Amino acid sequence: MTRTASKTGSQTMPEKVTVDLGDRAYEIFVGQGLIENAAMYVAPLLKRARVTIVTDENVAQLHLDALQKSFTDNNITSTPFILPPGEKTKNFEQLQHLLGALLDAGVERGDLIIALGGGVIGDLTGFAASVLRRGVDFAQIPTTLLAQVDSSVGGKTGINVPQGKNLIGAFHQPRLVLADTDALTTLPPRQFRAGYAEVVKYGLINDPSFFDWLEANLDNTMNGDVATITKAIVTSCDAKAHVVAADEREGGVRALLNLGHTFGHALEAATGFSDRLIHGEGVAIGMTMAFELSVHLGLCSGQDAVRARRHLTKAGLPTRLSDIPGNLPDARALIDLMAQDKKVVDGTLTFILARGIGDAFITRDVTPSDLLAFMTDQETT
Ligand SMILES: NC(=O)c1ccc[n+]([C@@H]2O[C@H](COP(=O)([O-])OP(=O)(O)OC[C@H]3O[C@@H](n4cnc5c(N)ncnc54)[C@H](O)[C@@H]3O)[C@@H](O)[C@H]2O)c1
Ligand SMILES: [Zn+2]
Repeated sequence: MTRTASKTGSQTMPEKVTVDLGDRAYEIFVGQGLIENAAMYVAPLLKRARVTIVTDENVAQLHLDALQKSFTDNNITSTPFILPPGEKTKNFEQLQHLLGALLDAGVERGDLIIALGGGVIGDLTGFAASVLRRGVDFAQIPTTLLAQVDSSVGGKTGINVPQGKNLIGAFHQPRLVLADTDALTTLPPRQFRAGYAEVVKYGLINDPSFFDWLEANLDNTMNGDVATITKAIVTSCDAKAHVVAADEREGGVRALLNLGHTFGHALEAATGFSDRLIHGEGVAIGMTMAFELSVHLGLCSGQDAVRARRHLTKAGLPTRLSDIPGNLPDARALIDLMAQDKKVVDGTLTFILARGIGDAFITRDVTPSDLLAFMTDQETT
């Protein structure tokens, strides 16, 4: 992984993070103006002068014209497919619809498909690209903070099914990621905060000095200071790039990136993948619960759990079950939902716990009785 920033004249060049996967290595560019200059980055990947763009209605209204203009100005034909926004789009029906539309549009094996949007569009488009004609190339232009720091990097693609989230999918790495910080200026604040939970995750997993930095820079981040946000995104992408290069298919350390996600996914399922709780919010509650469970098991100091919760709360994120509007299923039902998570091996739940801030680890040693006692306790706090 290399990280570079350079300046030509007064124009700041984007920062660059490389995901080192041998002949499938690719670059993540982070900076301003990347959507309006996308053709410059995409053109070297094209075998013929055409691309298809998959996006959602919200993003199309705000950023599709600028992207298409960049292609038109460079004599590249672009064909957009605009899907409904929201988590419910990540399903079989939309996948089938998208694959049919891509075939009807004559997308060939050597073509490039671009995902312009948040994690929903990135995951669905990446999966479609992985199976279309047995695999075509795709590029990610993530437009949410969550997608810029997490979902656009690492090649996990997929859809949700009634049995659970992301249970059908494939590993399919993008050829390029363009994280344009200008796109974040149109993002609703709630979505920005939810993405910020994934940024905090990298500090909590294994980078205590990044967590310190995040604490010191929270106001600048939340006030939209571009330099601060760029640094947060680059550090996050760098962390993810290292983990993905070390363990692309999650045989080991990559599972650390699931900190907070076993709880979070269960809560998302319990709230019907609805606006009651969006992914990053579930992760914020889940990470706090992972720290609390670590304290409950005598593995982590209470102060560190308090510090993690305090930072997430200051960032405007929920950290308790009682922060979720409406009723939730009881402790046993939540545990059943956790058991549907794909991180189950031989029926035993895998947890990411922590010995402290920046010291997370993977364990399968949480007993069902410990978990039930902990979850019952959570219901009442
Ligand atoms: N593949 C992975 O490794 C990975 C990692 C983390 C999360 N995910 C997945 O990512 C998904 C969540 O992604 P998300 O939080 O980006 O959600 P999302 O794609 O639903 O986007 C959130 C909302 O913001 C809107 N939006 C997007 N960009 C915008 C912009 N620039 N301005 C205004 N509105 C904008 C979208 O239309 C949508 O309504 C989940 O399905 C989750 O499972 C995948
Ligand atoms: Zn996540």
